[in-house]
Amino acid sequence: MRFTVRAATKDDCKEISRMIKELAVYEKMSDQVKISHEELERDGFCQNPFFECLVAEVPEEQKSTEGFTVVGYALYFYTYSTWKGRAVYLEDLYVMPEFRGNGIGTGLLCKVAEVGKKKQCVRLQLSVLDWNTPTRDFYAAKGGQDLTVTEGWHAIRFDGQSLDSLVHEAPTD
Ligand SMILES: CC(C)(COP(=O)(O)OP(=O)(O)OC[C@H]1O[C@@H](n2cnc3c(N)ncnc32)[C@H](O)[C@@H]1OP(=O)(O)O)[C@@H](O)C(=O)NCCC(=O)NCCS
Repeated sequence: MRFTVRAATKDDCKEISRMIKELAVYEKMSDQVKISHEELERDGFCQNPFFECLVAEVPEEQKSTEGFTVVGYALYFYTYSTWKGRAVYLEDLYVMPEFRGNGIGTGLLCKVAEVGKKKQCVRLQLSVLDWNTPTRDFYAAKGGQDLTVTEGWHAIRFDGQSLDSLVHEAPTD
C-alpha cells in the first residue's frame, strides 16, 4: 500500500479530531474526549505550539470505505529529562483499522523518532494501556522498553478538583 507521512497543517485538524475520537473508542474511553478541532487548531498552530502532529495519507484510489485519505496520525510534543536532556513524548499513535498491518504505524513512529533526533532528543517516550497487548507487542518489537516492568514507574495525573486544589494552595507571588 502506498502512503505518505507529512507534517499536519491547520486544515488537517478536523481529520485529526475524528481520529482522536476513533482512538478513544478503541481505548474504551470515548466519554473522556473533550477536545474540539478548533482547540487543536489553536494549540497546535499558534506561535508556541503545544504539540506537533504527523499525518499518514493514502492516494485517493486507496481511500477508506467512508472516503477518508488521512488514515493515521502521530501527535507528539517535547519534554525534558533532568537525567538525560531533551525528549519527545508521543501522546497518540493511530492507524485506522482497515489500513493496519501495512507499515503505516511503523512509518509514523519512525518519523517521530527522526524529527526528535534532529532536535537532539535522546528519548522517545509514551504510555500504553495495560490491556492493549497488540500495541504493547508492537512497541516491544521495535525495541521499546516497558518502564513499569523494568523501573516500576506509575503514571500520575492531577486534573479537575485535584488540580484546582493544588492551584488554591499555591504560594502567593
Ligand atoms: C499500533 C498501530 C498504530 C500500528 O499501526 P500499523 O499500521 O498496523 O503498524 P505496522 O503495519 O507498521 O506494523 C504492525 C505490526 O503488526 C503486524 N500486523 C499484521 N497485521 C496486522 C493488523 N491487521 N493490524 C495490526 N498489526 C498487524 C504487522 O506485521 C507488523 O509487524 P512487523 O513490524 O513485525 O511487520 C495500530 O495497530 C493502531 O492504531 N492500533 C490501535 C490504536 C493504538 O493502540 N494506538 C497506540 C496507542 S498507545
